[in-house]
Amino acid sequence: MNYPVWFVPTLGGGLLIALVAIVHVFVSHFAVGGGLYLVLTERKALREENRALMAFVRTHTRFFMLLTMVFGGLTGVAIWFVISLINPAATSLLIHTFVFGWATEWVFFLVEIVALFVYFYTFGRMDDRTHQVIGWIYFGAAWISLFLITGIIDFMLTPGQWISNHDFWSGFFNPTFWPSVFFRSFLSFMLAGCYGFLTATFLAEETLRQRMIRYSGIWALASLLLSLPAGWWYLATLPTPAARLVHGASPTIARASTVGAFSLALLAGLLITLILLRPQARTRVLMVMVMIAAMGYLGAFEWTREAARRPFVINGVMYSNGLLASEAPRIDQDGFLKNARWVQNREVTDANRLEAGRELFLHQCFACHTIGGFNNDIIARTRNMSFNALRNYLATIHGKRYFMPPFVGTDAELQALAAYIAGGLNHKPLIEAKGAGGDQGKELFNDNCTACHGLDQIKPDLKGWPRAKIRAALDKLSALNPDMPDYTGTAADKDAIADYLAQQTGGAP
Ligand code: HEC
Ligand code: HEC
Repeated sequence: MNYPVWFVPTLGGGLLIALVAIVHVFVSHFAVGGGLYLVLTERKALREENRALMAFVRTHTRFFMLLTMVFGGLTGVAIWFVISLINPAATSLLIHTFVFGWATEWVFFLVEIVALFVYFYTFGRMDDRTHQVIGWIYFGAAWISLFLITGIIDFMLTPGQWISNHDFWSGFFNPTFWPSVFFRSFLSFMLAGCYGFLTATFLAEETLRQRMIRYSGIWALASLLLSLPAGWWYLATLPTPAARLVHGASPTIARASTVGAFSLALLAGLLITLILLRPQARTRVLMVMVMIAAMGYLGAFEWTREAARRPFVINGVMYSNGLLASEAPRIDQDGFLKNARWVQNREVTDANRLEAGRELFLHQCFACHTIGGFNNDIIARTRNMSFNALRNYLATIHGKRYFMPPFVGTDAELQALAAYIAGGLNHKPLIEAKGAGGDQGKELFNDNCTACHGLDQIKPDLKGWPRAKIRAALDKLSALNPDMPDYTGTAADKDAIADYLAQQTGGAP
C-alpha cells in the first residue's frame, strides 16, 4: 500500500522470485556443503598420499569457486533486487527487524570469500596443515551464514513469540529454526555429493573416476536419507494453518509435493544405481538426471515453504500483498484507495469503477495472480463467475480459502474490484438482475457455488440423488468435502438451490 506495484503481467512477481530463488539456493547450499566435501576429500588425498586425488580436489575447488562466488554471488544480489521490487514492504520489515543479523551475515560472507580465495590460490604452495585449517575456516564461515539466514527465512514462516514481544532473539530462534538448520545442512551435504559426482564424471582416468563417482554418490545418498527425518521434524513443528495447507488444503502445495516426491524417488534410485552398479561408461546422462532431480527436491521444498505461509508473507503479520494484518480493520472503514500512496483513483465513482478496480487488483491480488499469464491466471480462474458471484466470493474470500488474504476496503471498493474482474477482464454484464421464480435457484447457485466448481463438475457426483438428499446436504456442505465451506443462505435459498440442482441432475422430487 505504501509502495508502487511492479507490474510483470505474464510471469507474476511470485513466480519471478521463485525462479531466481530456486536457482540461487541450488548454488548457495552447495557453497556450504561443498566446503566440507573439499576439506574432507583433501584430507583423504593427504592420508593416502594420492596425487591424482589431490589434483581432482584442486580442479573441483576451481569449479566450486567459480560457481559459488560468481554465479552464487550474482543470483544472491538478484534476489535482493527482485524481492525489493516485488515486495518492498516485507523486505523493509525484514531489514529493520534484523539489522544486526544481516550485518553479521555479511561479515561471515566476507570471511568465506577471502578464505576460499586463499584456499584455491595457495593449493600446493602452503604446508598441508595450514591449508587444511583455511579449508575448515571456509566451511565454518559458510555454515554460520546458513545458520544466520535460516533464522531470518524461517521467521517469515513462523514468527512465533516475536509477534507479541518484537524481540530479535524470539524472531531469530523461531519455532521452525532448528529443524530447518538441520534440514538445510543435510541438503547442502547432499548437493556437495551431487556436484562432486558432476566433476568426477569428467575425470579421464578410469579407476579414479569410478572411485570418485562412488564416493560422491555415498555422500549424496547418506545426506539425502538424513534429510528425511529432519524434513519430517520440520513438518511436525508447523503451526496449524500452515500444517493444514501443507497437508492438502493448498492446491499449489499439493502440486509441489508431487514434484518433490517424484524427484526424491528418482534421486535416491539413481544414486543407488550408481553406487551399486558402478557404471563403467561415462555417466553424463545420469549426471544430468541427478542434477535435475536434486533441483526438483530442493525446489519443491522451497516452494512449499513459501506457499505454507500464505496468505501471509510474514505469517500472521503481513499479507502477501504487503498489507499489515493489524491495519486491515482501519482500512475497511477508511477505504483502501484513500490510504494507498501509489494509486490514481482515490474514490470509486461510476466513471472510474473499472480503473479503480484494476488498481485494487494490482495492490491486493496481483501478488499471487497474473492477468492472462503463466501462474495462477485470474482470467482463467474467474471464467465461470458472474459479477454477483464475484461480489459474494470477495466478501468472504479469506474464510472460503484460507490461503488468500481477506479483501481490504469499503463495500464500494469491493464492487469495483468485482466489476473489473467480471466486466473488465471477462467481459461479462454487470447488471444486478434478480430473476423471478424458477431462475432463482440457478442464480443462487451461480453466485455462491461457481467460484469453485460449475454445475458440470458436480453433476456426476449428484447422479441419482433425490431432492431431499440434496436439500439436506446443503445444510452441511463441509461434510461432503472438507474444502467446501458451509452455505450460509436462508432456508428458502437452500430450497431454491435444491430445486434447481434436482431438476438439472434428474433427481426424484
Ligand atoms: C497469497 C496469494 C493469493 C492472493 C493475495 C490472492 N489469491 Fe486468489 N488464489 C490463490 C491460490 C493459491 C489459488 C488457488 C489456485 C489453484 O487452485 O491452483 C487462488 C484461487 C483464486 C480463485 C479461484 C477460485 C478458488 O477459490 O480456487 C479466485 C476467483 C481468486 N483466487 C481470486 C482472488 C482475488 C480477487 C484476489 C484479490 C482480492 C486474490 N485471489 C488474492 C492465491 C492468492
Ligand atoms: C470454496 C470452494 C467451494 C464452494 C464455494 C462450493 N464448493 Fe462444492 N465443492 C468444493 C470442492 C473442493 C469439492 C470437491 C471437488 C471434487 O470432488 O471434484 C466440492 C464438491 C461439491 C459437491 C460434490 C460432493 C461429492 O460428493 O463429492 C457438491 C454437490 C457441491 N460441491 C455443492 C456445492 C454447492 C451447492 C455450493 C454452493 C452453495 C458449493 N458446492 C460451493 C468446493 C466448493
